[in-house]
Amino acid sequence: MSNQSIVLIGMMGAGKSTVGRALARHLSWEFSDTDHVIENQTGVSIPVIFEIEGEAGFRRRETQCLIDFSNKSAVVLATGGGIVLAEENRRLLKQIGPVVYLKASVQELFQRTKLDKNRPLLQTPNPRQRIEELLAQRKPLYESCADLVVETGRQPVHLIVQKICKAL
Ligand code: S3P
Repeated sequence: MSNQSIVLIGMMGAGKSTVGRALARHLSWEFSDTDHVIENQTGVSIPVIFEIEGEAGFRRRETQCLIDFSNKSAVVLATGGGIVLAEENRRLLKQIGPVVYLKASVQELFQRTKLDKNRPLLQTPNPRQRIEELLAQRKPLYESCADLVVETGRQPVHLIVQKICKAL
């Protein structure tokens, strides 16, 4: 394993935070999450940031967050599902370390996010369809950034961690 950091990308509900925490514990590395960093910096929740600054403002904060992480080592960094949208972010992600795309089906993503009110992009009458649309748009971007793709499906977290450690 290189002495850099590891970045986890993927859709909302793919398991980035859960897998990231377990992976960081396994490696005795620090765990961080761009959404939490932004919430800590601003002192408000993601939905409030979307409300006040719009999605564009939130995306600018995500980029700044990646810049701040680009020189850190021994961190497992979970990222917001839309981090791959900006070309600059995709470049920065590769700079931070190996990028792992955590992949899950629309059904799994929907099941894991359907009760969550903290994701502004899913507050629509038909969140399942929204997930489908977002995934269709983002899948090629996730794949273009990824050094490793891991299905999170019904696999236990410790097996996902094992797979990542073996592959990197
Ligand atoms: C977003 C995903 C969220 C959060 C924000 C936007 C997205 O993070 O960054 O609500 O565009 O997919 P998670 O992927 O951790 O839910």
